[in-house]
Amino acid sequence: MRLPRSVETADVAGKRVLVRADMNVPLEDGHVADDTRIRAAIPTLRLLLDRGAAAVTVCSHLGRPKTEEDRARYAMAPVEARLRELVPDERVRVLENTRFHPGETKNDEGYARELADGNDLYVNDAFGSAHRAHSSTEAVAHLLPAYAGLLLLAELEHLGRLLGEVERPFVLIAGGAKVEDKLAVLEHLGGRADTVLIGGKMAEQVRVENPLSFPVELPSDIVAASSFAADADTRVVSVDAVPEGWLGLDIGPATAAAFGEHIVSARTIFWNGPMGVFEWDAFAAGTRAVAEAVARADAYSVVGGGDSVRAIQELGLADRVSWVSTGGGASLELLEGKELPGVAAIPAVGRNG
Ligand code: 3PG
Ligand code: MG
Repeated sequence: MRLPRSVETADVAGKRVLVRADMNVPLEDGHVADDTRIRAAIPTLRLLLDRGAAAVTVCSHLGRPKTEEDRARYAMAPVEARLRELVPDERVRVLENTRFHPGETKNDEGYARELADGNDLYVNDAFGSAHRAHSSTEAVAHLLPAYAGLLLLAELEHLGRLLGEVERPFVLIAGGAKVEDKLAVLEHLGGRADTVLIGGKMAEQVRVENPLSFPVELPSDIVAASSFAADADTRVVSVDAVPEGWLGLDIGPATAAAFGEHIVSARTIFWNGPMGVFEWDAFAAGTRAVAEAVARADAYSVVGGGDSVRAIQELGLADRVSWVSTGGGASLELLEGKELPGVAAIPAVGRNG
């Protein structure tokens, strides 16, 4: 993989640095509900401050604002407040949501100029947004000397290990609802895995018509629900015995055990997507079993994608996997073998000019 040059090689003392981070975090009642992505940006900010940067201007998008009301809902103020608690340094400044500018998502050069103006260097640490060619992730990188931040590099390194030679068995676990988005990644990576386990909504689709060019393991039993509700009636049934009108909302215990056996004997694991509607207790057991097996395995394990990451965090198992990716779509596109625009815009290692 082509690696972008690191911020560690930049001479930042006395410089004014523009940092693009991915601080697109969930909000609740005007507060940051999960600050994982804010905390993930801190090592790069610290490095810049410790090495004597004169000013560090942080920018990020937040949500997908469209209407006037969205400008209040997605203002950066709560993110800035949280960042100030974590990094209390007067040299740090947070810009307003980049997506409030209509040029941002068009990769407009005029907006990129506004961002670059008054800065000496640009550091992109927004791995989660690196699959977007936007003014703050792509165009601006051509206007200032550009470097990759520590999180961006760590993500490339950890996810990149899955693209090269891996220790075997390599077990890939896929689930979740965004089936179309994920099948391309599965096709790219799955052929290299020894075992591919599929749960969640994706399993239903693959069972009807498998578009993949390799064999996969699908659930043998499921937790069926009388309706799509947290308090629905539930029943564990074989996949071919789902009562008329009922829905499969989790993998069943036999499947969880079978998947678990594959997972604990793996040496390399990539997991993306929950096994069911784990936000509801009645349908959380399958995802929990997979998360626990991944944590238990003596393997190089990577968990990516918003829902699986949330599951592993909520279960308190994040420190027992090798890498928890801050990227959703970005991780998937990288593993599909695509070059990410936000990464491609940064000069490669070895070019310090
Ligand atoms: C994400 O949360 O996936 C990233 O921040 C990118 O956001 P986007 O999908 O709105 O571009
Ligand atoms: Mg997304």
